[in-house]
Amino acid sequence: MSERTSLLQIGGAVHNRDKIRMTLTVNGEDSEILADGTATLLEVLREELGLPGTKHGCELGECGACTVLLDGEPALSCLLLARQCEGLDITTIEGISHGNELHPLQDAFADLGGSQCGYCTPGFILSSAALLERKPDPSRAEITEALSGNLCRCTGYNQIFESVEEAARKIREENS
Ligand code: FES
Ligand code: FES
Repeated sequence: MSERTSLLQIGGAVHNRDKIRMTLTVNGEDSEILADGTATLLEVLREELGLPGTKHGCELGECGACTVLLDGEPALSCLLLARQCEGLDITTIEGISHGNELHPLQDAFADLGGSQCGYCTPGFILSSAALLERKPDPSRAEITEALSGNLCRCTGYNQIFESVEEAARKIREENS
């Protein structure tokens, strides 16, 4: 085994020079990975786990393109170390649909023009999903507030807000 690949047991964590082994629970599945200890959750999702739906934007916590859900709450994956997220339920846009069946938010964004270039869309959908989980019938002001950390350069926001209202209506209908 080369020096590069040899593993050292240090303080309970398995290290490969500057890499550490971690287990992340993403979209309901545990994945064990060996990644740089300074890697962000965004980098690990995209580069180690092959989940490109979470988008690289500003990487400064300002655009919301990298939003995922941690235990159901929106979080900016560009600002989190992946290793901080061990033991949490991580949901990405790839995990929001049920098999081939799109989430009502995905349907509504597609149908009502809530998504144009689409770069911001995963972040908007995950922030919206968290909102609808805690508030099934949000007002326009509540939607605006919940999505205030997500930026879009294409839609002018009205179609996004209408998409969330439409999805909320469909989910309430399905649950009634
Ligand atoms: S990429 Fe994370 S907030 Fe912009
Ligand atoms: S749809 Fe293009 S940035 Fe939002």
